[in-house]
Amino acid sequence: MTRSVFITGGATGIGRATALLFARQGLFVGAYDIDEAGLEVLRADITAVGGTGVVGHLDVTDAEEVSQRLGEFHEAAGGRLDVLVNNAGLLNAGRFENIPLDVHHREIEVNVKGVVNGLHGAFPFLKTTPGAVVVNLASASAIYGQAELANYSATKFFVRAITEALNLEWAAHDIRVIDMWPLYVNTAMTRDVKTGTTDSLGIRLTAQDIAEGIVAAVDPALPRKVLRQVHFPVGVQAKALASGARFSPAWLTRWVNKRLAGH
Ligand SMILES: NC(=O)c1ccc[n+]([C@@H]2O[C@H](COP(=O)([O-])OP(=O)(O)OC[C@H]3O[C@@H](n4cnc5c(N)ncnc54)[C@H](O)[C@@H]3O)[C@@H](O)[C@H]2O)c1
Repeated sequence: MTRSVFITGGATGIGRATALLFARQGLFVGAYDIDEAGLEVLRADITAVGGTGVVGHLDVTDAEEVSQRLGEFHEAAGGRLDVLVNNAGLLNAGRFENIPLDVHHREIEVNVKGVVNGLHGAFPFLKTTPGAVVVNLASASAIYGQAELANYSATKFFVRAITEALNLEWAAHDIRVIDMWPLYVNTAMTRDVKTGTTDSLGIRLTAQDIAEGIVAAVDPALPRKVLRQVHFPVGVQAKALASGARFSPAWLTRWVNKRLAGH
């Protein structure tokens, strides 16, 4: 039995690194994106590491296309969908009022509706695959609302909430739903981003760090399994912020976030 993984936003960054790592581990990989040139490079790289899989166009905001690609992939993978990685995302940084409204709306379309489309479309296939796992890409900005990333941060709170809720609901179907909370990762997404927190915290993680975190979270070590961990902060800084927010009073969490953002 070959396990399979369906990854959105797979052409570059975290999605691409995750696709290659799963391919190396012998999973049948489906990588989908609007960037078809990036996918062609990935296709060759999957073969070069001895992996198998398919790539294809997918705009996650198009619910019909999401369902269609999932159906095709499920068939190509021999009737299995072991892992769904809802990774496609957009980030716009800056003061809220200076970002045009249509840009905010597009970020919500991709980061929120894209995830809903993926979850809804994949459910029938996840349900019929024993031990299926969903990995949603949230962010450390889902710990406390981030200045200069207000709308992005809000979309990641959405991802956090839907992860928590479906982790409860879908346990009855033997589907584990989890999310990743990376802090800044050095990808195209953060290339031109300069905010208070990129200055104070830096951009320290690589796409490979997150891919390794995702692969480890899909097959967790025993303590995490027993504790049924839902959120996976990646890196020392995100882990510190997550536990700080959990154990500090609200005023202190606000103060820390204000200071880190330079406001
Ligand atoms: N880079 C970071 O600092 C960081 C930190 C935390 C979480 N994340 C999250 O991780 C995920 C991946 O981020 P990344 O850093 O690899 O970004 P990236 O910009 O390098 O890659 C994102 C990919 O998503 C694709 N994409 C965009 N809109 C799409 C759409 N409508 N349909 C299908 N694909 C689409 C892009 O073409 C691109 O290939 C995102 O959800 C992001 O919010 C990133």
